[in-house]
Amino acid sequence: MSISACEFIRYKRLGKSADPKDIKEFVQGYLDGNVADYQMSAWLMAVSFNGLSEDELLAYTEALISSGERFDLSDIPGFKVDKHSTGGVGDKVSLILAPLVASCGVAVPMVSGRGLGHTGGTLDKLASIPGFRTDLTVDEFKRYLSKIGVAMMGQSADLCPADGRIYALRDVTATVSSIPLIAASISSKKIAEGAEGLVLDVKVGSGAFMTDEQSAELLAREIISITNRFNVKTTSVLTDMNQPLGRAVGNAVEVREAIACLKGQGPDDLRKIVLELAARMLLLGGRSDAENTRADAIAALDSGRALDKFREMVRIQGGDPRIVDDSSLLSHATHDIPIVAESNGVVQSVDTYRIGMLAVDLGAGRRRKEDLIDPAVGFEIYKKIGDEVREGEALATVHANDESKGLEVAEELEDCFETGDGSPNVPPLIIKRLA
Ligand code: URA
Repeated sequence: MSISACEFIRYKRLGKSADPKDIKEFVQGYLDGNVADYQMSAWLMAVSFNGLSEDELLAYTEALISSGERFDLSDIPGFKVDKHSTGGVGDKVSLILAPLVASCGVAVPMVSGRGLGHTGGTLDKLASIPGFRTDLTVDEFKRYLSKIGVAMMGQSADLCPADGRIYALRDVTATVSSIPLIAASISSKKIAEGAEGLVLDVKVGSGAFMTDEQSAELLAREIISITNRFNVKTTSVLTDMNQPLGRAVGNAVEVREAIACLKGQGPDDLRKIVLELAARMLLLGGRSDAENTRADAIAALDSGRALDKFREMVRIQGGDPRIVDDSSLLSHATHDIPIVAESNGVVQSVDTYRIGMLAVDLGAGRRRKEDLIDPAVGFEIYKKIGDEVREGEALATVHANDESKGLEVAEELEDCFETGDGSPNVPPLIIKRLA
C-alpha cells in the first residue's frame, strides 16, 4: 500500500476518497493477516458514516470478487439468471422461483444465504428437507445446473471469501446496514457465481433491513449500477415487508407452503410475488416476450411443471423427493399453540421485525452463528393488515417443541398484532418496479 493502514482509515474518517489500488490492497492485506480485525472494523465504520465514491465502491467490489474463485458457467448453454432478495420474514420465494424459472428453460444458478438477524435464510429452509445438500462443490453445482437447469448452494469458501470474513465482522460491529457495504457484498457474490442476469427483490418495511422506500431504492440502484458494470443485467422490484410474506414463518413450515404454491395453491401474496419475479427472470433469460412472461410463469405453476422441477432438484441434491407428496416426511413440532383474538376489530399493523425475532427465539433462526436451527418450529399467521378479526378467532398458531417456550412466545406473538376500529392503509405488495 502506498500509505499505512492507519492513514488509509483516517482518510475515510475525514470523508476523503481513497485510491482504488489502496482499497484492493487493504482488503487483500486483511485476508493475508497484514490488516487487523480492528483496522478493518474501523474502516467499515468510517464507510458507514461517510460512504464510498463510485470508484471506491467498484474497487471494493472487485476486491471482494477477486479474493476467491469466479465460477465459469460458459459451458452451460443459455443465459443464466439468478434472483436475490434482501431478506425478510416468511420469504420462501426462492424455493418456488428457482425451479419454476428452470422449468421454463432458463438456467438458474443460485447461491443463497443463511438466516441473518430477524430474517430467514433460503439455505436454512432447504436444510429442513431430509438429506438435501447445499454444501455443493463448484463441480457439482455446475453439473446439476447443466443437467436440470437449476442448482442451489451456500456460499462456499471459494466464493468471495473476503466478503464472508468482512460480513462476520460487520455483523458484530453494527456495520451491516450501510448501503454501499450491502451493495458490494450482494453484487460481488452474484458476479462471482457466474449469473448473467439478476432480478433483485428489495424488501421494504418493518420486517426488512431497509425500513423506508428511499433507502431501498438507493440500495437497488447501487446494485444495478455495480452489477451492470460487470456485465450482469439487473432489474429490481421493491416489495412490501410490513407483514410476513404468505402465512408460514420458520423452515419446514415454509417448505410446506412453498410446495403448496408449486401445486398452484398457497397464499395470494406469495403467488403474486413469485409471478412478478418469475416474469422478470424469464424476460431477462429471453424465453418469453414481455406480453407472455406472466402467462408462461402461471402455466408452469398450474401445470405441475415447476413442481416436477422442484422434485428433480431435491432428488439430485440428495434430498428425499417424497416430501413433495407426503408432507409428514418434513419435521413437525410436538406442540401447536393457537393464538386467538381477544376482541373484534381490524388488523391495523403487524410488528414484523418482532415476529422474526420471536421465530429466532423459538429456534427457527440463530442468535450466534454456531447455534443449531430447529427445522420444525415456527408460526402460521392467518391474518393480514386490513383483515377483520372476531373475538375468539385464530390469529396464528405457534409450532414449538418446547411447550413452555412456545407458550411464552405465543403471548408475545399476540402483541405483534395491533387491532382497532379504523381502516388501515393496506401497503401495496409491489411498491416500485425499477429498470
Ligand atoms: N446480504 C448480503 O449478502 N450481504 C449484506 O451485506 C447484506 C445482506
